[in-house]
Order: sequence, then structure tokens, then C-alpha cells
Amino acid sequence: MQHILLTGGSGFIGSNFVRFVLRHRPDCKVTNLDALTYSGNPQNLADLEEDPRYKFVHGSINDMELVQSLLPDMDAVVHMAAESHVDRSILDARPFVETNVLGTMTLLDAMRRVDPGNQKRFIHVSTDEVYGDLPLDQPNLKFNETTPYAPSSPYSASKAGSDMLVRAYHHTFGMNICITNCSNNFGPYQFPEKVIPLFVTNLIEGQKVPLYGDGSNVRDWLHVDDHCEAVLAVLENGAAGETYNIGGNNERSNLQLTHAILEVMGKGKDMIEHVKDRLGHDRRYAIDATKIKTDLGWEPTRSAWPAALESTVKWYIDNEPWWRNVKSGAYREYYNKQYARR
Ligand code: NAD
Ligand code: DAU
Repeated sequence: MQHILLTGGSGFIGSNFVRFVLRHRPDCKVTNLDALTYSGNPQNLADLEEDPRYKFVHGSINDMELVQSLLPDMDAVVHMAAESHVDRSILDARPFVETNVLGTMTLLDAMRRVDPGNQKRFIHVSTDEVYGDLPLDQPNLKFNETTPYAPSSPYSASKAGSDMLVRAYHHTFGMNICITNCSNNFGPYQFPEKVIPLFVTNLIEGQKVPLYGDGSNVRDWLHVDDHCEAVLAVLENGAAGETYNIGGNNERSNLQLTHAILEVMGKGKDMIEHVKDRLGHDRRYAIDATKIKTDLGWEPTRSAWPAALESTVKWYIDNEPWWRNVKSGAYREYYNKQYARR
């Protein structure tokens, strides 16, 4: 039996990854180490509490002693814990450096202490934002694994820092690592600060959707289950020291995305409110996922629109208590602060 230590398993991608692994790998166990920050939600995995293959540990990746105590039983670490939202990093970068850079370093150092022979795998889940952005007028340009790093936000700079540390620990100490750089995910259990769940839940509440700038910025949308499958493929078959880019082959401008959501929900364009742009807003992300397809046989099969967008919208309609609970208290404070400035 393979035992995975997953960090950040109570967040959006992490909780979907736990389900995906337990569903598709009956011989796997998952221990989820999560600090339950604002985006970590025990409700995301409440139905798995009695599952003997799943265990939750409440704690931080910055707690060296705790991490070291968990590692001996593990065959692999899949590292997803992070501060993940660009807008929050613009308000305050410190938690991003503390968690994404120092937290990753703590995990790597704990691995070295517990596993000096580098038997255990370490999969570092990162983002396409480390590559900076692409111009809007050259649609054939995409990020591949050799694109130089050029992060533009405090969030992406902290992720780039963590990627560099992971690469350095492979180069220097021979650690058995892989890095994945992925495009924008969508699907169930996404924290409603991110654009799709924010817009969908605003519309259910009868509120307008705050579209940044002119809406021309482009993102490549990937269903979270496609991402989980790709991470699992890298965990099982990725070559040590390698980076794999993961994308949905599904580029849309934010205006196209907004129109698609409005159409699925039967709402008019009058529900769009153009607001002040995000500072330093990256124009376009696009992934060339040839390497993971060629080397590991993975390609997205669940991300195509409109079906994937419709099923995601339906999930938020069907799970109103989940997001109403999330969109209360501290969330309202953040939302008002974020959008008052616009
Ligand atoms: P999320 O914010 O929904 O979840 C992050 C989780 O990490 C939360 O459960 C939180 O409690 C936990 N966490 C934060 N600090 C921690 C700490 N110190 N110790 C332990 N747990 C801690 O984020 P997400 O969208 O699920 O992203 C997961 C990972 O995937 C991140 O590393 C992110 O950079 C990366 N990523 C996300 C996307 C995307 O579109 N969401 C795309 C590419 C890569
Ligand atoms: O590309 C991968 C990245 O995707 C991940 O590394 C990040 O963790 C994840 O948050 C996401 O980053 P983005 O900044 O692209 O996602 P977000 O959902 O915040 O925004 C998507 C686009 O929508 C972006 O161009 C900004 C725009 N937007 C966002 C919000 C929250 C709006 O127009 N209005 C909004 O209210």
C-alpha cells in the first residue's frame, strides 16, 4: 500500500485530490496535513471522516517537529499547501513568503533528515504564473518547461522561490522530486474569492460580477479532476528532477468566461460591473502540455466547455449551504476591503 502525505488537503485542489486518489487507487492511503487557514475547510472532506484510508492532521508545514514525525510512515509527499490568491498577495505578501517559501523549505529539510537516501518522492505542485505572462497578440506563444521564470505578483514570486528551492534540493542533495506547473483550475469546493465561484455565487445571490479592467486577460481553464489525474501520473511515473506543465487547452478571455457563466445561469450582461483592474494584472497564461502527454500519456479529458462549466455551475447551485457558510464572517470583511478599493 502506498501512503501519501498530502499538504493542503483541506483546500480546493487538495480536497479534490484526496477524493480522486481514494476513488482511483484502492491500495492508497492519504494523510492530509493542513493548517486550516481561511481557505482550508474541514467541510470539504467531512464525508471521509470515517474512511480508514484517510487521516487528517491539523498543523502547519512550518512545524518541523510535526512534519518529521509524520514522514517515516510515508512513501511520498504531494505538496499543495500554499497561500494561493493573487489579490491577497497584493494586500499583504508576508504570509505568502512564510508559507510558500519557508514552509516548502521546512518540508524539504524534514525530508532530508528523515530520508537521507532519497527513497521517498516529493511532488511540488506549482503554477504557470511563475513564467510571467504572454502578449495577447501572439496566440501561438505558450509556456513550456524551459520558459524562463519571470513572476509578476507577490504570489507568483513566492511560488517561483519555492520551485527554485525544490530544484536546488534535487541538484544539491539528489532529492527525488518533480515539479508541476499548472494553469487555472475550476470545479467543486473552490474558495469563492477565485473568479468562477465568486461570479457564480454572486449571481445566485442576485449581485453583479466585478470584472477587472476590460476583461481581455486570458486564462487556460483546467478542470480540477484533470489536474488531480496529472499530479497522480507525475507521482507514479514522473522522472526525478523533472518539471511537467499541465494545462486544459482551454483558453478564454475573462470577458468570454463571464459571458459563458451568464449564459449558463440565464442572466443578462447588465450583471457585469467593470471595476478597477488588478495591479500588475498578467495578460495571458497558456500552457504547452506536450511533455506530459509524450512522456506520461496524460492529456485533459474533463475540461471542455460548455459541459465542464455547466457541471461546475450546477455544483454551486446544488451546494448553497457550503458556499454560504464560507461567504460569511471574515470572508465578508475581505470582500468589502478588496472591492471597496475598486
Ligand atoms: P487553496 O487556497 O484552496 O488551499 C490551500 C490549502 O493550504 C488550504 O487548505 C490551507 O489551509 C492550506 N495551508 C495554507 N498554509 C498552510 C500551512 N502553513 N500548513 C499547512 N497547510 C496550509 O489553494 P488551491 O487553489 O487548492 O491551490 C493548491 C495548490 O495548487 C497551491 O500550491 C497553488 O499554488 C497551486 N495551484 C493552484 C491553481 C488554481 O487554479 N487554484 C493552479 C495552479 C497551481
Ligand atoms: O494560473 C494558475 C493560478 O490561477 C493559480 O496559481 C492561482 O493559485 C489561482 O488563484 C489562479 O490565479 P488567477 O489570478 O488567474 O485566478 P483568479 O480566479 O483570481 O482570477 C482569474 C482571472 O479573473 C484573472 O485574470 C483576474 C480576473 N478576476 C478575478 C477576480 C477575483 C476578475 O476579473 N474579477 C474578480 O473578481
